[in-house]
Amino acid sequence: MRENKNILPNINDARLRNRPVKIIYKDVQVPSSLLNFPYPKTFYIKTYGCQANYRDEETIAGLLCYAGFKRVDNIQTASIIFFNTCAVRENAEQKLFGHLGELKAIKQKDKNKIICVSGCMMQERESLQFLVDTYKYVSIIFGTHNIASILDLLDEYLSTKKMLIRVPSNSDEVVENLPSYRSSLFKAFVNITYGCNKFCTYCVVPYTRGQERSRLMEDILKECRFLKENDYQEITLLGQNVNAYGKDLKDGSNFAKLLEEVAKMNFPRIKFLTSYPSEFDDDLIDVIAKYDNISKYIHLPVQSGSNVILQAMGRRYSKEAYLDLVKRMRAKIPNLRLSTDIIVGFPNESEEDFLETLDLVQKADFASAFTFIYSKRKDTPAAKIVDKVSYETKVERFKRLVKLLEQHISAYDAKAMNQLHHVLVESVSEKDPTMLSGYDEDNKLIHFKGDTNLIGKIVKVKIKESHMYSLIGELIDE
Ligand code: 5AD
Ligand code: SF4
Repeated sequence: MRENKNILPNINDARLRNRPVKIIYKDVQVPSSLLNFPYPKTFYIKTYGCQANYRDEETIAGLLCYAGFKRVDNIQTASIIFFNTCAVRENAEQKLFGHLGELKAIKQKDKNKIICVSGCMMQERESLQFLVDTYKYVSIIFGTHNIASILDLLDEYLSTKKMLIRVPSNSDEVVENLPSYRSSLFKAFVNITYGCNKFCTYCVVPYTRGQERSRLMEDILKECRFLKENDYQEITLLGQNVNAYGKDLKDGSNFAKLLEEVAKMNFPRIKFLTSYPSEFDDDLIDVIAKYDNISKYIHLPVQSGSNVILQAMGRRYSKEAYLDLVKRMRAKIPNLRLSTDIIVGFPNESEEDFLETLDLVQKADFASAFTFIYSKRKDTPAAKIVDKVSYETKVERFKRLVKLLEQHISAYDAKAMNQLHHVLVESVSEKDPTMLSGYDEDNKLIHFKGDTNLIGKIVKVKIKESHMYSLIGELIDE
């Protein structure tokens, strides 16, 4: 008899930290049940959420392709269906449930379809329990720590045909050598750390993605070298807190050193996500200033401008320290463009607290921002706070914040008029097939007329029109 390993996630295990990290160089083996898969060898993946999830999707797809499967865009023609979920805010969960409901009809028509649900949401006990109780036709549920073993999970499912749940709550592993099916031939995400140790009081990520683990510098540089040889134009180094890179390795590596090594490889564009203000040090500022190919568009989440709220959030800096960092960055990086994340309506945020956030927005002069209304996440410390602020007040503040941010964004756009921007061309525009679309150095969406053979190249575009969240320009031939 097979041992029942369907254990639900456990918040105490999810809190565990400081276990020595094991680096595993995996030799991927394809089980014979997948080599001789009796149905069409096709799979479909739908991902929700952040860049880390999109990178995980590329690994899942890489493993399936390695086993001889083909990715399809039509869910109806796929033998294996993956939903890769997000848990950071409640609306991400709602979207998933809508899609899972639609799958019932597909499964009824063909009971051999294998439906897999993975990702952060599966690491939460209550969401998982709800899913198991409501969507009984799901085949495999796996968490953020089981991606490397997906082929073995499929093999196990094929032999039992019973719902399989694999969601260990934490991991001390970094798995290398996994195949990858990259979604772009010219821009790539490269993981540098996994997990997060910050435990901001509103955030579920440290529980869903586990303890912070850095990849070895040599393994990251090997992956970057491969991308360079394959002519990738833009790479983004990824971690929940890139500034923590190397701290767990205790071999002298840190993010400034890593970024400098990557910059020396001469990629046209290098970005990194996400930075944590109090760990953003002067060595890093110097490296960014020194290399032209490191993007001067930097995402530096502040979350709030109130010291009371920052403290309640467990953020380890003050409003003044954040603004001082911005000043030091601007002194050395004159063409810096800052982007940020802001949460409105953290429990018991007062009008004065909110005004502090507006004041910080004025002073920091963000070129772009992602704004969120606080969403209560189970098992996080903030979820226990009795909140006296109404949802209507939060929505009203949110609108005031967006209005102020839009004034700053418009000011940036006004300065962009008639300027030359370097655009990495991604595709034909979704709205207008006569136009191409791409992103400039500042992550701004730019549309312009041009030939499709420019896709994948960096071109110069003169900006002519602004539409707040995108710009329109003219291609400049050289
Ligand atoms: N509610 C609202 N926004 C959140 N974020 C993280 N957790 C929550 C939450 N519980 C936001 C933060 C973070 C971004 C990725 O998502 O601003 O930087
Ligand atoms: Fe969440 Fe804070 Fe970690 Fe970012 S730094 S992932 S907000 S706990």
